[in-house]
Amino acid sequence: MFVAQKIEAGDKAGFYRELLAQAGGLLQGERDAIANAANLSALIHDAVPDLNWTGFYFLKTPSELVLGPFQGKVACVRIPVGKGVCGGAVAKGRSLLVPDVHAFPGHIACDSASRSELVVPLIRDGAVFGVLDLDSPLPGRFTNEDQQGFEALAALYVAASDPWG
Ligand code: SME
Repeated sequence: MFVAQKIEAGDKAGFYRELLAQAGGLLQGERDAIANAANLSALIHDAVPDLNWTGFYFLKTPSELVLGPFQGKVACVRIPVGKGVCGGAVAKGRSLLVPDVHAFPGHIACDSASRSELVVPLIRDGAVFGVLDLDSPLPGRFTNEDQQGFEALAALYVAASDPWG
């Protein structure tokens, strides 16, 4: 049975190194994409400070994201590609770091407490098939180091999980 360890690292690079190592242990031996998304969102939400929403959306058709496993308040279920921060990250095929969601045109407010957001696309064989979405109640919560850390976690998730659908 996996037991999450409290992360003691003082700097962000060390924090994400430890979190990535724990995520590797958590997903080891299991390749189910939904189970891994559920457990990874729980690990992240517990370990990373100042998050109010952590979760996954998956492309069920080429034009629409559908809500996957998450931690936090209930969320909007369907997001068209190109809409909001999540749909924007899919359309652009890269991470979107939004320091102030109120200043992002088209931001979709699921939890009114959210003030900043980071969305990382899930990419397999060059194709985006979903996103990892992080929301914070603090403005400017996410830095480039956070983005690199979550991109590494997203890559681990993709490598550790079988395609589905
Ligand atoms: N804010 C997102 C919608 C998803 S929720 O944050 C969970 C967006 O603008 O795409």
